[in-house]
Amino acid sequence: MKTKAIIFDLDGVITDSAKYHFQAWKELADSFGYKFTEEDNERLKGVSRLDSLNIILEINGALDAFTEEEKEALCTKKNDNYVHLIGSVTPEDMLPGVAKFMADAKAVGLKLAVASVSKNAPALLTSLGIIDEFDYIADARKITRSKPDPEIFAVCAKELGIDPALCVGVEDSQAGIEAIHAAGMKSVGINVTVTSREPDIHLRSTAELDFSNIIE
Ligand code: BG6
Ligand code: MG
Repeated sequence: MKTKAIIFDLDGVITDSAKYHFQAWKELADSFGYKFTEEDNERLKGVSRLDSLNIILEINGALDAFTEEEKEALCTKKNDNYVHLIGSVTPEDMLPGVAKFMADAKAVGLKLAVASVSKNAPALLTSLGIIDEFDYIADARKITRSKPDPEIFAVCAKELGIDPALCVGVEDSQAGIEAIHAAGMKSVGINVTVTSREPDIHLRSTAELDFSNIIE
């Protein structure tokens, strides 16, 4: 078997928390009368909190409307709302097929890692009851560049001690698929809309995650 590790994004791949990120940003945008649609939201997936705010401001021609301190405060407000929204997450909230896929991979000795730029990832993985299932979880506080930069996937491979060419990355965002490719890994896209380069394997949902089709 060529594949040695699977590196998962979290939001929108392991659980449907992407909808809560959208809701929290939407409520913030609405409070200023800013436009922010689900289509706009595709650009925020995989992108850090501050970069996400800047994209919303840019869409609304408001990049210079706030000081850096005010932007920090807006990010905190959005995050407080997001933390509230994910407060009721339980192990029942794993997306379909993910737990079995992880178990199948572990059964044949593959390493598992999480490559999420969310600073809420440890809390969310704890709520899902799977934080101990991974060999490595990237620390979002130490990642300096958001996806599509390959940094977070490269760090995961390095920490696992596995050549990126032997890793498979699973992502639901355009930025994430680009990051996986830039890291030199094989990509699995979950319902990814538009990308500059198609994922190597495209699935409509996690329910289609099938160990035998993905692992070489
Ligand atoms: C990514 C999400 O996983 O984490 C983004 O796709 C989010 O939407 C980013 O902005 C940062 O998350 P957090 O929880 O640190 O604000
Ligand atoms: Mg995601």
